[in-house]
Amino acid sequence: MKILAIETSCDETAAAVVENTSILSSVKFTQTSHAEFGGVVPSLAKRDHEVKIDEIIQKAIVNCKLKIENLDAIAVTAGPGLAIALEVGISKAKELAIKFNKPLIAVNHIEGHLLSPLASPNFQFSIFNFQKPVLGLIVSGGHTELILIEKIGKYKILAQTLDDALGEALDKAARILDMPYPGGALLEKAAALGNPKKYLLPLPMAGKENRNELSYSGLKAAFARLVSAQKKILSTQEINDLAASFQNRAFEHLIRVIKKSIEHFSLSTEYLLVGGGVIANTELRKRLGLMGNDLGIEVYFAPMELTGDNAAMIGIAASFKFTKKQFVTDFDSLDRLPRWRIDQAV
Ligand code: KG4
Ligand code: ZN
Repeated sequence: MKILAIETSCDETAAAVVENTSILSSVKFTQTSHAEFGGVVPSLAKRDHEVKIDEIIQKAIVNCKLKIENLDAIAVTAGPGLAIALEVGISKAKELAIKFNKPLIAVNHIEGHLLSPLASPNFQFSIFNFQKPVLGLIVSGGHTELILIEKIGKYKILAQTLDDALGEALDKAARILDMPYPGGALLEKAAALGNPKKYLLPLPMAGKENRNELSYSGLKAAFARLVSAQKKILSTQEINDLAASFQNRAFEHLIRVIKKSIEHFSLSTEYLLVGGGVIANTELRKRLGLMGNDLGIEVYFAPMELTGDNAAMIGIAASFKFTKKQFVTDFDSLDRLPRWRIDQAV
């Protein structure tokens, strides 16, 4: 079955056509109008989505040499995300579903990230026979969540952040070092050339990992103090060392909380799926891979092209809903769900 998926939850206008977990086409436009504001401006996001959405959908369909008439359903991100940005995708999806008489599927953006590793060529679907618990980790700009996958479509949040998401924290640290928004990838580049032990930063929630909570706001505040205490123009090497020191602590905290949560819930986990924008980070992939080796857990990462926001992951999540016939029955009742948690039904 073939699904057209639409994603407009934040600053990427994206459309894709997927057939189960195979991506037939995937197109996205990354908005650049936010950079000068140091964060995503909802009204600009909405405006840019409106300008681009028809063209992006058209490209996704043309790229796989299909017509909307040939597709089986339309899927759209209904949340979480920016309400007025989500609205653009939802209205377009409703319009197309009505015009072409197709079922409409509402998808949770986080579920999309969570299931994006399924598009990896080496993904083993047999892990879902659920002899052993399967874990999921989302590390994005808006979310940092460790999730128990009870079955596809049924999730339990085991640990999450009390304040900033990991991507948000990396972006804030990058900003403190005068890097443009979103700075996570630039921080990674600098960190790769720096000494992670050069500056001592506090390890968040040290000794409290058994609470299954993450927190990045204290680390960010300590980093801001450390940088302003330097009182001079930073050399490139100092910037690299600062970036490496921050990233090191941020990742160390994440991995400690994952390990503690596995212990706390006595999980005999053998598999971990990881998705979200931050998993584009090579150092984090390496560390999670090493953690997996230590614990006997096989780690499946989202393919690089599906780490950031995209519509293919929305299509993949939608294909499981399609097989269960989880369609939107009343189009008027489908509204934006800016705070939709992955463990809540629509
Ligand atoms: O999943 P995503 O595209 O959007 C949300 O749903 O939030 O994630 C965006 C986040 C941003 O914080 C961005 O800085 C971060 O992912 N990111 C990275 C890298 N590439 C993107 N963080 C660290 N290293 C990277 N290479
Ligand atoms: Zn996302």
